[in-house]
Amino acid sequence: MGDFLSVTELTKAFPGVLANDHINLTLHRGEVHAILGENGAGKSTLMKLIYGLYEPDSGEILLEGNPVHFHSPRDAIHAGIGMVHQHFMLIPALTVADNVVLGDEPGHIRYDRKQAEEKVRSLSNQYKLTVDATAKVGDLSVGLQQRVEILKAFYRKAKLLILDEPTALLTPQETEELFSIIRHLRDEGIPILFISHKLDEVRAVANRVTVMRAGKTVATLSVAGTTSQQLANLMVGRDVVLRIEKQPQQRGSVLLDIRNLEVQDKDKHPRVRGVSFQVHAGEVFGLAGIDGNGQFELVDAIAGLLNVFRGSVWFDGQNITRLSPGARTATGIAYVPQDRQVEGLVLNFDLVENLMLRDFRRRPFSRNGWLSRQAAVKYANDLIQRFDIRPPDALRKAADLSGGNQQKVILAREVARDPKLLIVAQPTRGLDVGAIEGIHRQLLHLRDLGKAILLVSLELDEIMSLSDRIGVIHSGVLQDIVDAKTVTREKIGLLMTGSRSDEGARILSSDIQEVRKP
Ligand SMILES: Nc1ncnc2c1ncn2[C@@H]1O[C@H](COP(=O)(O)OP(=O)(O)O)[C@@H](O)[C@H]1O
Ligand SMILES: [Mg+2]
Repeated sequence: MGDFLSVTELTKAFPGVLANDHINLTLHRGEVHAILGENGAGKSTLMKLIYGLYEPDSGEILLEGNPVHFHSPRDAIHAGIGMVHQHFMLIPALTVADNVVLGDEPGHIRYDRKQAEEKVRSLSNQYKLTVDATAKVGDLSVGLQQRVEILKAFYRKAKLLILDEPTALLTPQETEELFSIIRHLRDEGIPILFISHKLDEVRAVANRVTVMRAGKTVATLSVAGTTSQQLANLMVGRDVVLRIEKQPQQRGSVLLDIRNLEVQDKDKHPRVRGVSFQVHAGEVFGLAGIDGNGQFELVDAIAGLLNVFRGSVWFDGQNITRLSPGARTATGIAYVPQDRQVEGLVLNFDLVENLMLRDFRRRPFSRNGWLSRQAAVKYANDLIQRFDIRPPDALRKAADLSGGNQQKVILAREVARDPKLLIVAQPTRGLDVGAIEGIHRQLLHLRDLGKAILLVSLELDEIMSLSDRIGVIHSGVLQDIVDAKTVTREKIGLLMTGSRSDEGARILSSDIQEVRKP
């Protein structure tokens, strides 16, 4: 079990940023080695150096003890390094076999498709990467396309596999399947570098973990000997609260009252079917459900972005069912949709302009129709500090920020308008632990100030830790509303699958155990 790959003092700078600062890393045979770090920590840069996409400014890469100098991925592939990028590089119109062998086709004069299919079949058996060699790639799910990418690497005789954020686009089910594949590959003697910013994933699949922060490696640890809390602290560089203490609830009167709501999509298919519930002031109402069960259509309809087909929406005693989105905003509803680009930001504008997009007519920015730039900058700086927006520079364009920080800008802008009801969909999707903590704190703070919060999330943990009550939606129908203090994960899982048998609960709880197992 010697070192398969080792990296010493590897350094790479981009203009204005030291992306990799004297990095040291060793990868053993027979291990899954996770690289854990927040967005921007330098993980992808390190992988691209190892894969020959960038050349280092200084430092060394040793493969099986020998120094290597890659000038392109071709060199790295030739040396036995395989990498699956976050965005696949497959051709949808071609079959699996065609894609796998592309650029390195079997056959002397003519392409021997039969031989390619045979080869793909045998690789897919050897590595338990079940996929139909003759299927068209465009017809495959994301999870299966990823397998094709892995097969491609093995067809080129990879002895080491780099997976950069491989779960980002996968469903929980596909993620579990990928983890079994990874474990199998490891047991077959393929060392794996697994890049992630998610603690649970690292704990579920890796043997060792190297934590990166701001371009440096801060620690390499054995996963079995560490806790999520330790990893989170190393990753963020300070104590992070994984579970936030909630204040006892001070529930006020009903603010939002949804009555028998029906919503259809563009093709007139019913997406929300007869949903009724109420959200009170001072309460977080969480809406749980598997993606695609009508939860996002429901909140779009409440915000006025989708038409209500039947039923009504009442807010603060007023029937707002037919009001425009703008008129709803004026009554005190703020909405942070799941797609940051829709209602989101003007990427070409700086943060000052983005943070006041909806408020520019109000004092103190506007005096006699003139904007006070100074007041606006001060306002922006306050919000940047309060929501920990990084980099803390009000004059940066929104386009320069990471997705997570763009999300913070949108949330800051909506919250700053002091709404009575805040509707948030997937508020922490794609964010790292430190940023998630900040957003969760802000949401609970608003609740404690007496605001009503309607939270839609596909992350059950997020729903369970923030909500006071939880509504579970399946197939457009609200299955039940439960008290978050007493309900179990299993019970919610059961409602999410729409089944009343024990089957749903059993599947879900075994998934959870699997994830927790190091
Ligand atoms: N090609 C590039 N040009 C300029 N800066 C880059 C480039 N690639 C990455 N960076 C910067 O280097 C830092 C590390 O980025 P990256 O390696 O992608 O981090 P991670 O994968 O951990 O999110 C970031 O500040 C990023 O903006
Ligand atoms: Mg990356």
